[in-house]
Amino acid sequence: MNRLNVKNPSGVTTPFYYYDLELLSRTLGAAAAEAQKRGYVLHYATKANANPTLLKMIFNAGFGADCVSGNEIRRSIECGANPKLITFAGVGKTDAEINLAIDSDIFCFNCESVPELENINALARAKGKIASVAIRINPDIDASTHAHISTGKKENKFGIAAADLDSAMETVKSSKNLKFVALHFHIGSQISDMNVFANLCARIGDFNRIFIERGLPPQHLNAGGGLGVDYSDPDKNPVPDFAAYFRVFEQNLKLRTDQTLHFEPGRSIVAQCGSLISTVQYLKRSGSREFVVLDAGMSDLIRPALYQAHHRIENLSSDKPSAIYDVVGPICESADCFAKDIALPQTRRGDTIALRSAGAYGEVMASRYNLRDLPNTVFSE
Ligand code: LLP
Repeated sequence: MNRLNVKNPSGVTTPFYYYDLELLSRTLGAAAAEAQKRGYVLHYATKANANPTLLKMIFNAGFGADCVSGNEIRRSIECGANPKLITFAGVGKTDAEINLAIDSDIFCFNCESVPELENINALARAKGKIASVAIRINPDIDASTHAHISTGKKENKFGIAAADLDSAMETVKSSKNLKFVALHFHIGSQISDMNVFANLCARIGDFNRIFIERGLPPQHLNAGGGLGVDYSDPDKNPVPDFAAYFRVFEQNLKLRTDQTLHFEPGRSIVAQCGSLISTVQYLKRSGSREFVVLDAGMSDLIRPALYQAHHRIENLSSDKPSAIYDVVGPICESADCFAKDIALPQTRRGDTIALRSAGAYGEVMASRYNLRDLPNTVFSE
């Protein structure tokens, strides 16, 4: 059985995030090459992992940034992102964040409501500037993923509903300090069914036609992120199949001359290069259950507690025959459980445990709950 090879020469204490930078580099190369072939533009979704070491590599590979806060914009620019390739999304952008983005001359605001369009226009006018905007449309598509990470159904808070598009178009046309540049979509995350993206293409095509007919031809179309990764077998599929993903768009979305297609991949870029490394504190039994108690908990990796997410767990210290365990953290919550009834080689106090595929939405979602320290980081080189 494959096991993660962790090098920690300076003896950083667990729990820590371990990043395999060679794998990140391979993933970036694959995504960029497949996008370039088709003339697609990639904005990395900074929210997935905003660790400066990773960001510098990602922006150095030519990716733009998809940001959802003023701080993400600042951090991205500090780490080398070209402001001309920064999109700014989010349903609740504050005036301070909008002003920062206007001053930074970003590529465009992905706007989520008519009042937001009006506000950006007013703030741009006050600065005597023109803000480029995309209209984020809620296409009412089922992404067939976990409810908490589904964003494209009409009951979700995201995007402008079809019923409000007339009003959004009028607002854009009558706002002198807005320049309409794009239509934006993002329907959810960890999507593995390519038919979902084919359906998205059909909806993008419909809205593209409507906007052209109404005299607002979008120069850019942005299909968001969402490509899933293999959480069950990260060693079999360390690099997501970007070719298959982009092929769906190539085959199902007809671009007009001069139109550019953009994407905002997050998870697919960084999930597989990161693992959370932890030390077994205690073994304990209760009735028929045997618990492996780690020094990492839901404050370090909240995905299992929040989304019932599965992360492959490996004991890096033991080759003994396997036994059945519940793997839990030290935090005072029953939800602080990484897996139930899993087979691991017989485990002892002091063993090193890896929680795999934790590079996306792991470190960025860590908290100081129970006043614990934030997890450390270690890089493969
Ligand atoms: N663009 C927009 C507008 C987004 O809201 C997101 C993610 C992305 C792009 C990137 O999507 P990705 O390629 O990573 O699927 N914390 C959750 C995931 C939340 C995703 C939020 N939006 C998790 O741990 O599964």
